[in-house]
This record gives sequence, structure tokens and C-alpha cells, in this order.
Amino acid sequence: MITYESVTKTFGKGINTVNALDNISFTIPKGEVVVFLGPSGCGKTTTLRLTNRLEELTGGTITIDGQNIMDLDVVELRQRLGYVIQAIGLFPNKTIAENIAVVPKLLGWDKERIRKRVDELLQMTNLDPDLYRDRYPAELSGGQQQRVGVARGLAADPEILLMDEPFGAIDPINREEIQDEFLKLQAKLKKTVAFVSHDIHEAIKMGDRIAIFNKGKLVQYDTPEMILTQPKNKFVSDFVGADRALKVLGLMRVSDIINRTPKNIIQGSDRSQAALDFLSNKQYRYGIVLEENRPIGFVTQKALKYEEGPVREVIETYPIFLKEHTPLRDVLSSMLMYDAITFCVVDGDKNFVGTVTYNDIQKAVKASYADEVENIENEVAQ
Ligand SMILES: Nc1ncnc2c1ncn2[C@@H]1O[C@H](COP(=O)(O)OP(=O)(O)OP(=O)(O)O)[C@@H](O)[C@H]1O
Ligand SMILES: [Mg+2]
Repeated sequence: MITYESVTKTFGKGINTVNALDNISFTIPKGEVVVFLGPSGCGKTTTLRLTNRLEELTGGTITIDGQNIMDLDVVELRQRLGYVIQAIGLFPNKTIAENIAVVPKLLGWDKERIRKRVDELLQMTNLDPDLYRDRYPAELSGGQQQRVGVARGLAADPEILLMDEPFGAIDPINREEIQDEFLKLQAKLKKTVAFVSHDIHEAIKMGDRIAIFNKGKLVQYDTPEMILTQPKNKFVSDFVGADRALKVLGLMRVSDIINRTPKNIIQGSDRSQAALDFLSNKQYRYGIVLEENRPIGFVTQKALKYEEGPVREVIETYPIFLKEHTPLRDVLSSMLMYDAITFCVVDGDKNFVGTVTYNDIQKAVKASYADEVENIENEVAQ
């Protein structure tokens, strides 16, 4: 756990004074990833550099598990904190293996242990150890160098990771991949991570919480859901972007809005005439058709009118089925693609679990906008 309490940092003197951080207070809980997000120059890197004492605090305190960092030995402190710096900063005259091994070597690990750890970390960051361990940084692409930077930060298995735009130099496709790898790793290692980014998508994906900075102030510190659905002020909602509704849908899942007990259910073996009576009596435009509790399709009143046999003869099939964990953004995309307004949700055995309709999705989006309008109205009124 890292706690920042009234942290202030000024650079320079007199007319050259820069207030890089102004009275920042927040806590990074143990085992969580907190993303520092904000425009260039807002103080993200400075916050990391104060944490490992590469910069001196002007005011306030930083504690790690309750211990004031000023009371800790600076070398010991830095060993507990892995640091992935913004500019990658590999030593050009050292091989990749030597670069990764810097901290383990300082700690006096034996050669065999270091060799094993280097190969393990190269594999972890998707670099073939046989191909890369003996190369020099200049022989790697920017993205590959950045992976080595991440490997170096993790080398001595520090309890806390300070990562400054660790994937900034990696192209979008590989970035998605390394983000996924990192999240898998994090699910196992449960490090406490301060992760700097200027990319809202990355922040939403990687962060358990997001700290939004602007001009040295902490503007909002919340979960990604809260940042998207209840931005504290106009700066945050602008920063999050006009497509906030779509981002909210990326975070929400089918399980959040599923209707588990829709009433317009009919059985494939029902006679068409009986099914038609049922739908028209209840004024349902269409029915979901189940057989042995599995959805086999849907049927409209119109299709049933001219059928003598069982319902299963006239059904239209669904192009896809949803799972409970499907993000709503993907559901909406499928609805547009297949021109459909309802999909069925199934479990692993294809049993019927419920439905999601276009209306339900729209309601979820509207709810998030209602919060924003209220917040901004309050702000204007204050
Ligand atoms: N050593 C320094 N001397 C003087 N000013 C500094 C120093 N380091 C940072 N600053 C200033 O402090 C402010 C915050 O800088 P910081 O590097 O923390 O920004 P950042 O949020 O990391 O930005 P970026 O997204 O561009 O990396 C900036 O105005 C910067 O110019
Ligand atoms: Mg920076």
C-alpha cells in the first residue's frame, strides 16, 4: 500500500518556480493497479519519482505500508520498488541479459539464478531468450526495447512496480497483447502498481482505479466505472471523450442487464396456432423458442399465421448467442451487424439463461448520461 498525503512538489525558484504537484492525497491499495492519467506536464512522472526518492518532496508525506519513505534506507527503498522509466533507458553498451540483470546483480544473486531469471522474464514479455539475450539495445525495435524495460523492472520481483508509460512505444496490436499478458501476470503476482498512461483506453483496461491529474492537482480518483459514469467535472468528461457511452458499454457486461425471466417464451413442440394465440393475447411481437431449455430461434406472429404444424417448423435462427461475460459494446456491435434487437444468453451447455434487448442497452447508456448532466449542473450551480 502506498499513501500520498498532502504531497507537494515545486521545481526552481523565484519567477522560474513550477508547481509540479499541489497538495495531492490518495492511497494505492495493496495488490491493485492504479493508473495515473492526465495531459502532458500534469505531474505523473514527478509522482513516481517522488515515490522512489529520485526527487525530494517539497511538502507532505509518502508512506509504504505505513512507513514514511524518508525513514527508509534509499537503496533498500529502491530495491522494493521496480521502476520502468518513461524513456526506456537501457544501457547501450550492455546486452539485453545484462540490462535485465542489473538489480539482481546489485543484490548479489549467483550467476545461475540470474541466468534463469533473465530467460524467464524474456519469455514472460514475449521475447525469445535464445534470439535476444545476447543482443544490444540498438539491435531491437523501440517496442522490443520497451519490453526489456518492463522485464528489468520486474527482475528482482519487487513488491511494488512504478511503470511510466511502459507500453507507449509499442504499436496498437502488440500493445493489446502485452497489456493482456501483463494483466494475466498481475492476476497471479498481485503487485501494487502505479502505472502512468496518457491513454484513456489503456487506463480503463489496466486500472483497478484511475487517478486523473491536471496541472499538478488530483482531479478525480475513482474506479474506471465511476470515472466514466460519474465524471466529477467538465475536465474529466472532456478527457474521457465524447464516445464515453461506448466506453461504458465496453466495461459493462451482459450479466449487468440480462433479463433472466422473459415472458415471451414458447416451446418448439407447441402447435403454431396455440403459440399465435399466446403471442397475440399478450401482445408480444415475437416469441423465443426453446427446446429442452436450449434456444433454437425466434418466431413472429406473422410467420405463425399460415403454419399448421409445430412452431419449430417456422422459426428463424439466431446468428449468435451471448455469454454472461460478453461486453455490451460487443452486443451492440452484433445487433447493428445482424440488424437484430434481441439476443439470447446461454451457458456453457447452451442452456437458455436470459435475453438482452436493444432497449435494455439504451437504458443503461441513458442512466450513465443522467449522472453526468446532474454533476455538471451541480458544478455550474456551485
Ligand atoms: N527537473 C525538473 N525541473 C524543473 N521542472 C520540472 C522538472 N521535472 C519536471 N518538471 C516540471 O514539472 C511538471 C510536471 O512534470 P512531469 O514530468 O511530472 O509531467 P508528466 O505528467 O509526467 O508529463 P508527460 O505526460 O509529458 O510525461 C512539468 O511542468 C515539468 O516541466
Ligand atoms: Mg511523464
